[in-house]
Amino acid sequence: YHLDMDAEETDKGPYPYYMLKEVDEQPNVMRKLASIYTEETGKDNLDPEMIDAIKNADRIHIVGAGTSYHAGLVGKKMFEKLTHIPTEVHVASEFAYDDPLLTKNPFFIFLSQSGETADSREVLVNVNARGFKSLTITNVANSTLSREANYTLLLHAGPEISVASTKAYTAQIAVEAILAKSVGVAKEQVIAEDFDVRQQLGLAATGMQAIIDEKDEIEKLAKEYFVNATRAFYIGRGIDQTVSLEAALKLKEISYVQAEGFASGELKHGTIALIEEGTPVVGIITQVKTAGLTRSNLQETLSRGANILTIVRSGLSKEDDTIVVPDIDEMITPLLSVIPAQLLAYYTSLNKGLDVDRPRNLAKSVTVE
Ligand code: AGP
Repeated sequence: YHLDMDAEETDKGPYPYYMLKEVDEQPNVMRKLASIYTEETGKDNLDPEMIDAIKNADRIHIVGAGTSYHAGLVGKKMFEKLTHIPTEVHVASEFAYDDPLLTKNPFFIFLSQSGETADSREVLVNVNARGFKSLTITNVANSTLSREANYTLLLHAGPEISVASTKAYTAQIAVEAILAKSVGVAKEQVIAEDFDVRQQLGLAATGMQAIIDEKDEIEKLAKEYFVNATRAFYIGRGIDQTVSLEAALKLKEISYVQAEGFASGELKHGTIALIEEGTPVVGIITQVKTAGLTRSNLQETLSRGANILTIVRSGLSKEDDTIVVPDIDEMITPLLSVIPAQLLAYYTSLNKGLDVDRPRNLAKSVTVE
């Protein structure tokens, strides 16, 4: 299952690469998901039987690979906050050969843009064999992971052609937010009732557009900080740390800069030894309770010669911040903080003269283990 770019000549239009087109499509995907899955009244259109199955679970397991795994890390925060069901996130290839200690009534959620990732399918075969219930959230109807799960929620993101996943990541987070809210309401969790996911996805769409409209500024930053870099760090805490993993993966896979996403509080326990004069370090700062801590971790890298940048939620910004993203609910700030990272990776790859859509050694869907 290798997407043949030529065969997929869905119109690239004025875009030099599919990746930029797909980054640009994200605001509309947010609006589309809100209109498909939620109502003006605040109710949703999800299968009540599926909501019931998740509501009654004593643990949720989210399984994915690569970017989908990173979307699962964001999902964990939302499920635990809105439903109070303990939630674990697993790298598919690790979980497939683990010997997990499972609870009586776990529910499995598979995240997969292609719905064909062999590592994830390996887990689903096992889950089915044990008779546990599962949901696949995917961009491809009738894909293997969709057909073999009990339930499916589609991302409705349109074909994602570029190897680097962008709109599928944000669409997966949006669908997880819609689902977590629905299950939380079914469990009469007040915090879920108060979370207006339809409104928040509308704000996310507007906020995404505002950042995308600044793409020329972001290209300047890519040229200044990343095009000649061999190594880079994205750092953050909590939900910002999960985005740092996704941000680093984008940069690695299309520009070949050795980038790491790292828990900012963990740097001083060894990895800070890698910081050299001019090493780009990007701090992702969207959470009130950890903003100050990440800022001081950034300063520690600065004093060792790093070139620091910040991606900050506007309510927490200071005048010398590099990129400020608009305010939305803290739980879903990844929908906005990831956009500058997607564009920094895109423009670094573009300005290095690389094939952004078809990075070396990579396939769009990894259908072998
Ligand atoms: C992400 O940019 C990569 N293309 C890759 O990590 C991808 O997310 C991973 O292979 C999982 O693919 P899936 O979502 O189709 O299962």
